[in-house]
Amino acid sequence: MPALVLLGAQWGDEGKGKATDLLGGSVDYVVRYQGGNNAGHTVVVGDQKYALHLLPSGILSPGCTPVIGNGVVVDPSVLLSELSGLNERGVDTSKLLISGNAHVITPYNVTVDKVTERFLGKRKIGTTGRGIGPTYADKINRVGIRVQDLYDESILTQKVEAALDVKNQVLTKLYNRRAIAVDQVVEELLGYAEQIKPYVADTVLILNQALDDDKVVLFEGGQGTLLDIDHGTYPFVTSSNPTAGGACTGAGVGPTKISRVIGILKAYTTRVGSGPFPTELFDDDGEALRRIGGERGVTTGRDRRCGWFDAVIARYATRVNGLTDFFLTKLDVLTGWEQIPVCVAYEIDGERVEELPYSQTDFHHAKPIYENLPGWSEDITKAKSFSDLPKNAQNYVRALEEMSGAPISAIGVGPGRDETIEVNSFL
Ligand code: GDP
Ligand code: IMO
Ligand code: MG
Repeated sequence: MPALVLLGAQWGDEGKGKATDLLGGSVDYVVRYQGGNNAGHTVVVGDQKYALHLLPSGILSPGCTPVIGNGVVVDPSVLLSELSGLNERGVDTSKLLISGNAHVITPYNVTVDKVTERFLGKRKIGTTGRGIGPTYADKINRVGIRVQDLYDESILTQKVEAALDVKNQVLTKLYNRRAIAVDQVVEELLGYAEQIKPYVADTVLILNQALDDDKVVLFEGGQGTLLDIDHGTYPFVTSSNPTAGGACTGAGVGPTKISRVIGILKAYTTRVGSGPFPTELFDDDGEALRRIGGERGVTTGRDRRCGWFDAVIARYATRVNGLTDFFLTKLDVLTGWEQIPVCVAYEIDGERVEELPYSQTDFHHAKPIYENLPGWSEDITKAKSFSDLPKNAQNYVRALEEMSGAPISAIGVGPGRDETIEVNSFL
């Protein structure tokens, strides 16, 4: 069973980076299939901490080939600075492969992202301002620039011209900004082309051949299920498909090849940016989760909104992704609470609702119905097996598993690679 998908089951920042890195030592390829440098994945190896934005977390495992798939959007300047940052720390990045079909985040996409958010005012999405949405919009509008276009100056110039034709009208007439010069953009992009060239490859062919040869391939999602453009809390979402189907389109691999889908699930809930969040806390408990869990964005440095675990969301993630397993993270953060509330259902207009409402209006009105589970006070960060956990922590995990609809196969009890309890093997 060589192909695994690993993705966020909530609103992102569940600990995907750590989980991918942990498996990276035993897999041949780690593939990012969507998103871009809006992601912020923290990986702690020994006393070293790495913050990855665009590169797959497998880049830190020497035996593993990291791949940026066709579904990813690539900011070349960020790519090169992330690579050189890792090289300076002694990480070999020479195996990286980048799909020639991946789209390029251009400087004007970043400008449009920021200007649009400002224009939306109170209705803003709270994007990371990295040009993600506008780049995917260009892709769908068929005016995008692909990595392969960087190697044909005439095509690149024509495409930048076509994209800026409309954008400059909007920037100057609607947003009162200066027009962006085609030549400048082309020159900047061409400046990156040669440095990126060694990595550019036919990743679809390489990955399918690897699967035919029974190599192990891990597809790493950026963001989370509830930030998915189709299945998330639209419009407060990102502009791609982190859900499991996205791995197929974003890497060019058929669904019949996927053998396991692992949902990364935080033992409580966090969210960055705007949008509904039924279990959000505005009290001391929320503040404590933020402080103990270190809940501050890796990419934007924004404080994350914090709340209790929401089983309705976990069940939804199981369903839309076809999850086979959960990897529960940050259980250690909950140590010290006497009682831990868990949202088991919602109350919407006086009625109990067990599943995520399909209507956005209803979801905005959803009030959490909590069950209190008994907490524990023992330090669990040294636990190596499930039986090392205090009884109440075991019961908390079992209760979450029952409510969420898939087995919890690993439990994170700290940020480090070794601070993980393996319950069932992933490979
Ligand atoms: P990602 O975007 O899903 O990769 O997650 P982030 O890296 O943005 O946020 C997760 C944070 O939790 C990081 O700082 C990780 O180092 C940390 N982390 C991951 N797993 C655990 C865990 O089990 N316990 C604790 N205390 N921290 C963890
Ligand atoms: P990782 O990979 C948390 C959120 C932004 C915003 C919305 C749209 O670390 O889990 P975008 O810039 O993508 O157009 O912003 O999505 N967002 C994330 N929130 N973790 C992330 O990545 C995120 N990537 C985007 O805050 O609400
Ligand atoms: Mg993150």
